Amino acid sequence: MSSILHHNLIPKPVRVEPRAGEFHITAETRICAQAGLAEAQPAAEYLAGILRRLTGYPMPLEAVGEAPGPGSIFLTVQGAPPVLGAEGYRLEVAGDAVTIRANKFAGFFYGCQTLRQLLPPSEGPWQIPGLDVEDRPRFAWRGLMLDVARSFFTVEEIKNLLDLAAAIKLNRLHLHLSDDQGWRIMIESWPNLALFGGKCAAEGGRSGYFTQAEFQEIAAYAQSRAVTLVPEIDMPGHTNAALSAYPELNRSGIAPEPYRGMKVGFSTLAAEKEITYRFVADVLRELAAITPGPYLHVGGDEADSTTPEEYKLFLQRVQDIAAANGKTLIGWDEIIHGGLRPGNLVQVWRKGTQPQKAACQGARLILSPCHHAYLDMKYGPETHLGQDWAALIEVKDAYAWDPVSVYPGVSEEDVLGVEAALWTETIHNVSDLEYMLFPRLLGIAEIGWSPQEGRGWEEYRLRLAAHGPRLAAAGINFCRSPQISWREG
Ligand code: ACM
Repeated sequence: MSSILHHNLIPKPVRVEPRAGEFHITAETRICAQAGLAEAQPAAEYLAGILRRLTGYPMPLEAVGEAPGPGSIFLTVQGAPPVLGAEGYRLEVAGDAVTIRANKFAGFFYGCQTLRQLLPPSEGPWQIPGLDVEDRPRFAWRGLMLDVARSFFTVEEIKNLLDLAAAIKLNRLHLHLSDDQGWRIMIESWPNLALFGGKCAAEGGRSGYFTQAEFQEIAAYAQSRAVTLVPEIDMPGHTNAALSAYPELNRSGIAPEPYRGMKVGFSTLAAEKEITYRFVADVLRELAAITPGPYLHVGGDEADSTTPEEYKLFLQRVQDIAAANGKTLIGWDEIIHGGLRPGNLVQVWRKGTQPQKAACQGARLILSPCHHAYLDMKYGPETHLGQDWAALIEVKDAYAWDPVSVYPGVSEEDVLGVEAALWTETIHNVSDLEYMLFPRLLGIAEIGWSPQEGRGWEEYRLRLAAHGPRLAAAGINFCRSPQISWREG
């Protein structure tokens, strides 16, 4: 029993060893955080909330000065080695107690997530096999991008998505906030962006925008789930919504019509006009002020209506602006050709990109190869949703790749991490979003977290099969791919 259970963890931990006995969660179980340890307290509260909902037991919380007695789940920094870093944890389950050791909130939070996966999906008895887990991530960046520009998703929907992403130890949510088809964040100094661009969407998609207070609410919720929010304003291309809201941003001075189609590459900000940089500076300043994380994503992809000279000029000015706001700039891999400065980040997406060190000026890479990690691609030719321009991506295709060998000339140190992307030209509600993300997102999460050695498709597909009942119990509309022999209970 215990070996079956602990082998089903996703992402797979670095090390798991069985131990004697089983811990039983009962009506008497207490959750204890080391007194005065601010990093453990919110994780203990989070765990109590989850276990109360799952078991119906009271799960009282206590702050304790030393290891509590039997029947408790104890969160402590004592005995947490520095090698665990900020996100690693040690989880020991013995017959009479559970101990989670970590250095920082994220580590405690991930220890709690592992503990949750060791319990049955929805029904007791609530027993956890005796074991000793030591775990920490391979990559610092484990992301999910959601395109809210083509189709809007609400604050509540994004919070639910954050819960699901954090449960598989993802730690970045990248919101694609603007595109040709819509603008989704209120910028007070340029209000028509949201008032006008917020009313638009891709054909069949939902319109809407976030107020700055709502954006901050998402960012705070993300932090409570150990996730950093990464906002993207795509430019100089993919800007029809902005150009349509403000005629003066156009070369011609004439605003184009709103756009609802699927073409790319036709719009551009005017790199030669000074008002363009007033606009960019205002937008990025307001966005930086409401973004707790250190990143601003500026897109930069598919600027096919911008000449290479204009593109370089534009990227130099935008890098100045991001730096003046104290943020690290990120762009899609086209920015490699715009005179990238050291310290900024490149999100690699195109199949043929050659992101070698020299080309990137030493910038580190976030890997979102479109043929593995674009989860708006269909699973197979029969998939009723999604697109197929990059590839058909079955569950195996999303899982069976290694970030250091998917592109030539890339070493482990070059790679900051991985990110799944969900573009929403054809994905217009939560049910469809879940179908495209699950179960493939679990595979990307494991690529980002687990060591490459010890990862393999044949073994992974058995673990994933056991997640069928978990996904079902969470009410997720997941794709029952025929590549997996789904377990029913
Ligand atoms: C992209 O898919 N245009 C980044």
